Amino acid sequence: MILAIETSCDDTCAAVVTDAGEIRSNVIASQGLLHARYGGVVPEIASRHHLELIDAVIGDALERAGTSLEGVDTVAVTRGPGLIGALLVGLSSAKALAAVRRLPLAPVDHLHGHVVASTLGPHPIDPPYLALVASGGHTFLARVTEPGAYAVLGQTLDDAAGEAFDKGARLLGLGYPGGPAIDRLARAGDPTAFDFPRSAPGELDFSFSGLKTALLYTLRDRPDSDRADLAASYQRAIVDALTSRTAIALEREGLERLAIGGGVAANSELRSAVTELGVGVWVPPLELCTDNAAMIAGAARFMDPLPYPEYLDLDAAARL
Ligand code: KG4
Ligand code: ZN
Repeated sequence: MILAIETSCDDTCAAVVTDAGEIRSNVIASQGLLHARYGGVVPEIASRHHLELIDAVIGDALERAGTSLEGVDTVAVTRGPGLIGALLVGLSSAKALAAVRRLPLAPVDHLHGHVVASTLGPHPIDPPYLALVASGGHTFLARVTEPGAYAVLGQTLDDAAGEAFDKGARLLGLGYPGGPAIDRLARAGDPTAFDFPRSAPGELDFSFSGLKTALLYTLRDRPDSDRADLAASYQRAIVDALTSRTAIALEREGLERLAIGGGVAANSELRSAVTELGVGVWVPPLELCTDNAAMIAGAARFMDPLPYPEYLDLDAAARL
């Protein structure tokens, strides 16, 4: 039984997962509304709330799993990348819980968690597969040959796809987080009304900052443009960029399975577009797409944890 803790951004998360990948509990305390008034995540506020919530969230995860610390064999925790103050709250808690029972501790790369989220639950994906991870902080394609590791094939050179949604939504006056708002508004619009750029900085890399600028200029030059048409065309440009690189990567790597993850995997147009790629697609349930601790336990299953007391001087890492 693995107890996992994830506090890399603004969600305080704990989960209990078995070695076979069965999720016994997956608790997510979202701070989203606390940050919405600032239009984005405020790191210092996130750290303080993690401190207030972490004990209750861990207790809740153990209770919902019908167990206690006595039933835990390994503690897993996100070591990075993320907000350093936020990461430290989770890492310190994990060290303390592991140390009192001399348990081993697995320090997990947050992105490895997103990459293997689809290996959890009753219908797990089997390697080899391609992972498309698109969230507010990261956007990349990775090849997974063995679930204990992943090879990044391409990534964003500037904004993440979720960031593009959030910045576009702000320009359109839709509030934060912007992804769900654009997704909703786009349903009433024409995705071909505006021809937004699909920049291709490298065969498998992404770039979204030019797209945001194109929206800004369109709003400045044609202020009476239909908002739903703008949202639909903007969303189409992001989804096209994601799926075109995904198609190239599948072809180049000779892969027949695709897993998508990260908050942008909640996007309705992306979810339907990836089913047209001609490969098997694994789309995890929403609570496994956005930040969660079950995926951190999921990655820990494929690692050798550090024995007590080797992890006591381990540091969090804002970048890995
Ligand atoms: O994975 P996540 O919860 O947190 C990060 O690690 O960043 O991703 C959050 C991102 C936000 O940028 C949000 O706007 C985006 O995911 N998002 C969406 C949708 N739901 C959330 N983007 C597009 N369409 C959605 N339906
Ligand atoms: Zn994430």
